[in-house]
Amino acid sequence: MRVVIEKDADAVAVRAARFVADLVRRKPACVLGLARGETPLGLYRELIRLHREEGLDFSRVTTFNLDEYVGLEVTHPQSCRHAMQQNLLRHVNLDPARTHVPDGLSLDFESSCQQYEQMICDAGGIDLQVLGIGSDGHIAFNEPGSSLGSRTRVKSLTGETLRDNARLFGSEDLVPRLAITMGIATIIESRRCLLLATGSGKASAVRSAIEGPMTAQVTASALQLHRDAIVVLDEEAASWLTRRAYYAEVEATQALLETGQWRQLGIGKQAAPA
Ligand code: F6R
Repeated sequence: MRVVIEKDADAVAVRAARFVADLVRRKPACVLGLARGETPLGLYRELIRLHREEGLDFSRVTTFNLDEYVGLEVTHPQSCRHAMQQNLLRHVNLDPARTHVPDGLSLDFESSCQQYEQMICDAGGIDLQVLGIGSDGHIAFNEPGSSLGSRTRVKSLTGETLRDNARLFGSEDLVPRLAITMGIATIIESRRCLLLATGSGKASAVRSAIEGPMTAQVTASALQLHRDAIVVLDEEAASWLTRRAYYAEVEATQALLETGQWRQLGIGKQAAPA
């Protein structure tokens, strides 16, 4: 897992947007996995800026969102479809026909979840999946105890998630109890995962996910299995990590490698022993 630590939430947004923009430029018909929630809002603002000011072109991009509440009309301000529309989709040149959110209104859960998996598969799989992390370590709505082999399905939300989300609905009673969510196995199959976390409220979950054992009790820890998982944190979210210095060293080395500064890495300084 690559751990990138930035000064604050704004720097996290800019750094994360660079990973997304690089992909969109390299592969214009890429498939992006998107997350809702507060954490990626800065990333979406930066992508909108890149679209407007630097012509970042989303016209051939396909998107799949991680999850949707069950039972919320798509016009409800807290529905995932509505939130994504407001925060990203309507501000860039994405083709609406290529933007996908799980169907929270179909009561035929099983077939609508299977269809969602099939659509991801038909699109060629997700190239880059953006993720936030819950304070209990969940990714998407894979609450503690979710199978690490899970696929898209309906989940009951935990009390902690209901409390965390109460601020968005005005009261805990109004938070839907169920959500359709991509499973951990669905997420892990993405070619790259990009998890963002900001603020001290995420520090404990971040430490468990990155430095703790891999466990279904902290579903973000499944990213430890992923071959290309990048975690971008601000200093507060990174504050409980014990190996911060090492992560910074790796990033500094990476920057030297990317700019070809071999001698600074000690490469070529030593003659082979006689
Ligand atoms: C959103 C999602 C959730 C959030 C997580 C953190 O699609 O799947 O896992 O990423 O609950 O939410 P925020 O960013 O609001 O703290």
